[in-house]
Amino acid sequence: MAKDVKKFDLPEVLPDHIGFIMDGNGRWAKKRFLPRKLGHVEGAKTFKKIVRYCRDIGIKCISFYAFSTENWKRPNDEVDAIMNLFRQYIDEAREHFLEETRIVFLGDKSVLADDIREKMIAIEEDTRHFDKMTLLLAVNYGGRDEIVHAAKLVSEKVRNGEMNIEDITEEKFSSYLYAGEFPDVDLLIRPSGELRISNYMIWQCAYAEFYFSDVLWPDFLPEELNKALFDYAKRSRRFGGV
Ligand code: FPP
Repeated sequence: MAKDVKKFDLPEVLPDHIGFIMDGNGRWAKKRFLPRKLGHVEGAKTFKKIVRYCRDIGIKCISFYAFSTENWKRPNDEVDAIMNLFRQYIDEAREHFLEETRIVFLGDKSVLADDIREKMIAIEEDTRHFDKMTLLLAVNYGGRDEIVHAAKLVSEKVRNGEMNIEDITEEKFSSYLYAGEFPDVDLLIRPSGELRISNYMIWQCAYAEFYFSDVLWPDFLPEELNKALFDYAKRSRRFGGV
């Protein structure tokens, strides 16, 4: 662990994969009479602090719900502001290659602006060999869409005679998901007081522990994450056993 990290005590058991639903940016801005997009700017700062903290404490995989398939319904200027934050972040992440974080985008990239899609694909390629931590960013992502997309890929294989129906197991099927090669979510964190999963990683959260907090995402700093980690460490995970 890096020397500057030991700001908080840590529990002995840490999750392999933490999922974050970054909720509450709009309310954070509203409380301050600021435009919603400034809430996202602040949310992006928190995102970077959390990524760094997770990397420093040795979490293997983290994922963030950054833009859902439903978020296109938001006003254009808000959507544009969020897309610009993605552009900026990808450029910044390049400057931090030394931190050895692999970056992968989950979701349908085909409808994104060409420049964003190209930046995403390039950074995925350029970070593919990093294995200190994997950062999954769900953009134009929906859990049901992910399952339907995988079902189509599997059906195609069966139609072409490359796979038998009998060979479709949970393990095999999950390898066709956007997040197919990464571990299931162990701990799902949703700040801002909402008690829902909102179509996030619905397959991968089958046995996830949920942690809800009233803190709005921009205020969900490493200290809050640490509370979630201690809460997680107390839980007994039985995966359907006794
Ligand atoms: C939900 O809060 C948040 C989003 C739909 C966008 C999340 C995006 C960011 C934090 C920017 C991420 C940037 C990078 C670089 C990954 P909300 O707007 O629904 O909040 P509200 O429920 O209070 O209105």
